[in-house]
Amino acid sequence: MSNKRVTLKARQVSFAWDKTPLHWLPDDPFTTHTINVLHLLLPAGERWFVHVYKQVLPFIRDDRLREDVIGFIGQEAMHAQAHDEVLPHLREQGLDPTPYTAQVDWFFEKLLADRTLPPGKARQWWLMERVALIAAIEHYTAFLGNWVLNAEELDRRGADPMMLDLLRWHGAEEVEHRSVAFELFMHLDGSYRRRARTWATAFAALMFLWQRGARFFMENDPTLLDGKASFKAFYQGGKKGVLPSTPDMLRSIPRYLSRDYHPEQEGDTDQAVAYLASSPAARAAEAREGAAR
Ligand SMILES: [Fe+2]
Ligand SMILES: [Fe+2]
Repeated sequence: MSNKRVTLKARQVSFAWDKTPLHWLPDDPFTTHTINVLHLLLPAGERWFVHVYKQVLPFIRDDRLREDVIGFIGQEAMHAQAHDEVLPHLREQGLDPTPYTAQVDWFFEKLLADRTLPPGKARQWWLMERVALIAAIEHYTAFLGNWVLNAEELDRRGADPMMLDLLRWHGAEEVEHRSVAFELFMHLDGSYRRRARTWATAFAALMFLWQRGARFFMENDPTLLDGKASFKAFYQGGKKGVLPSTPDMLRSIPRYLSRDYHPEQEGDTDQAVAYLASSPAARAAEAREGAAR
């Protein structure tokens, strides 16, 4: 395992969804929809990352870190766009996510917006609080990225190759840039109490939004008579290897809260870079860039 530093660049990927079935993991609507929640949460969440980071750029006093943050912004903006583009495809198949995405948009654009607190010290505090929240969320995006790069059970069960490539291209870039948010937080603030507090908030919010999203999809899937999402199904999916395992998720908590945590200890940059070199979408993006040059 090696964790050499790579220059972060946004790959201008594009995906065609017309051949992807509604249940892109065959005969497994629950796993399909649990992972589909990413398409609901990430566009608003990652645009919010970009919005917050643009505000902190002037406070960065380290050139390499600033460069990393700019690379991170480019990658997250592309992730948001790529997941957004799955939504019309879901609508065409009779699953309109608007009622749910409207709630998620409110969450990121109103509750976590700039003006939640008055100007001055409180607003400065709020900006640092959000920088720390992003670091905590990125602990989980790296965890999920590392998981999906290694989730061979999805291949074995015939998951749609286009969807797998979206998830693994994104996952690989999450592993690639996994240190940026934490290093930025440590550079600007680094308070342990803030790290622990924002971890608790981020974890609770992610769990809440995720289970609501999975329930929403299962209940509104036009092909299911009595679609339900449950923790038991999630746990079993983890045991089968089609979803992250609950024990692995629990073990990731003390790692983030350990005083010597660093995201470098999670995931494998070489594996991420190797996937990006073979990803159909990333290769097509590179070919298009080469042709435009
Ligand atoms: Fe991302
Ligand atoms: Fe990320």
